[in-house]
Amino acid sequence: MKNSNRNNSRRNFIKIAAAGSAALGLSSVSNVFGSTANDEEQKLSTKLKVPASKGKSVMGLRCEPLKTVRIGFIGIGMRGIGSLQRLLQIEGVEIIAIADVVPSAVKSGNKQLTDAGFKAAIEYTGEEDWKKICERDDIDLIYQCTPWLMHTPVSVYAMKHGKHAACEVPSAVTLDECWDLVNTAEETQRHFMMLENCCYDFFELNTLNMARNGVFGDILHAEGAYLHDLRELKFRKENGYHNMWRLEYSKIHTGNPYPTHGLGPVAQIMGINRGDRFDYLTSVSTKQEGLSLYAAETFGANSPEALQTYALGDMNTTLIQTVNGKTIMIQHNTTSPRPYSRIQMISGTKGMAIKYPEEQIALEPAAHEFLKKEDFDALMKKYEHPLITRIGEKAKKVGGHGGMDFMMDYRLIYCLRNGLPLDQDVYDAAAWCSVVALSEKSVLNKGTSVEIPDFTRGAWKNATPWPVVSID
Ligand SMILES: NC(=O)c1ccc[n+]([C@@H]2O[C@H](COP(=O)([O-])OP(=O)(O)OC[C@H]3O[C@@H](n4cnc5c(N)ncnc54)[C@H](O)[C@@H]3O)[C@@H](O)[C@H]2O)c1
Repeated sequence: MKNSNRNNSRRNFIKIAAAGSAALGLSSVSNVFGSTANDEEQKLSTKLKVPASKGKSVMGLRCEPLKTVRIGFIGIGMRGIGSLQRLLQIEGVEIIAIADVVPSAVKSGNKQLTDAGFKAAIEYTGEEDWKKICERDDIDLIYQCTPWLMHTPVSVYAMKHGKHAACEVPSAVTLDECWDLVNTAEETQRHFMMLENCCYDFFELNTLNMARNGVFGDILHAEGAYLHDLRELKFRKENGYHNMWRLEYSKIHTGNPYPTHGLGPVAQIMGINRGDRFDYLTSVSTKQEGLSLYAAETFGANSPEALQTYALGDMNTTLIQTVNGKTIMIQHNTTSPRPYSRIQMISGTKGMAIKYPEEQIALEPAAHEFLKKEDFDALMKKYEHPLITRIGEKAKKVGGHGGMDFMMDYRLIYCLRNGLPLDQDVYDAAAWCSVVALSEKSVLNKGTSVEIPDFTRGAWKNATPWPVVSID
């Protein structure tokens, strides 16, 4: 009886996934959706495939320094327009081409360039024009702010055409995509960076510095999250997500589709892929209520929106165990009425730090209470991350989630111009994004633990945790 239930729900899931892929109208990127029965069987299998490497490791990759970073910018929607504006304020950046399927978006992007005194970029508006941009020989970096299902195909195509690729979160939504990114970066020896901006927030950078200096002792457990009520935005028909892509994804997928804001910063602090690695995870979700209730209240109980089935459980909780015996809890909830939080908690043998709802630190020998405000401020000052010292004030002025977005872009361009390894590499992107597919797999298998592949193929053992780099 149990088995037949499971088979039924599996068959339903396959049907929903296939219907969803068609609904999304995917043409060139339809393969990324995992919409065939075979792919879905593989998704539910607990046996992981580790494909053979086609190139050499890119751990610590250094590429030729670029005097000017010439950028092809793809996707000028709600996120992209701000990203373009930030890039224009960094020395050594030239925007060569911009693309979006919405011509007015391309125009408003170019207006930013010309208003700021730059030459207008070459405009592309075709559905597959991102390929033409990747094929150009006057571009070094493809910077992408498109819907999730485009991320890997565009990034892989870019690297295969000799470009470095930077891409919004999450960079991959299936395990195959995670491996595609790794294998292509290794094959082409190009940089790939997922634009995980939360790694560059002020509290995160300072506590990274503290962690490297042993302030928290051995960090054994961390918690992160993306708790952000997006109900209105998901259902917005005008001026919202292009073709309502986020709602479409919520119809078909459960688990944690957006783990990296919570996971990235704590994974970096804990040295994941550099001395430790994710081993396995287990994941459970609540049932879905938030989207249906919101749709019934907003559009009426008999509206198509209210009658629609949504796969995404309101709250997903995923637990990751690392090879070195540490744990991470990651939550996702975009459909419940509650204040924004990424939790951002690290707990070690000498103390702990937590960011939400209020930044607090507790340390031995008085760790039963949080530090007083003046002691907290003094600690943050003492361990101010060099990137903040160098560029924090400007970042606050330029903005982008309080400045973290600018610090991320600044650092990406700085590393490319100086031939340095990037702070986040393709192995980080793959490990952090693997939680998208693997949390869903675990949820659909009653929380069964699922192995997380070693995307570094063993290189994590000899790599050292990312240092607190100084910026001149
Ligand atoms: N890091 C962050 O803090 C943060 C914040 C918001 C969004 N994001 C991420 O940024 C990405 C974009 O999100 P958004 O809110 O801007 O969504 P959006 O729908 O507003 O923007 C996506 C843009 O891509 C364009 N596009 C779609 N198909 C295209 C194609 N074939 N060629 C060129 N352009 C195409 C759309 O027209 C749209 O302008 C998502 O991955 C999202 O998760 C990250």
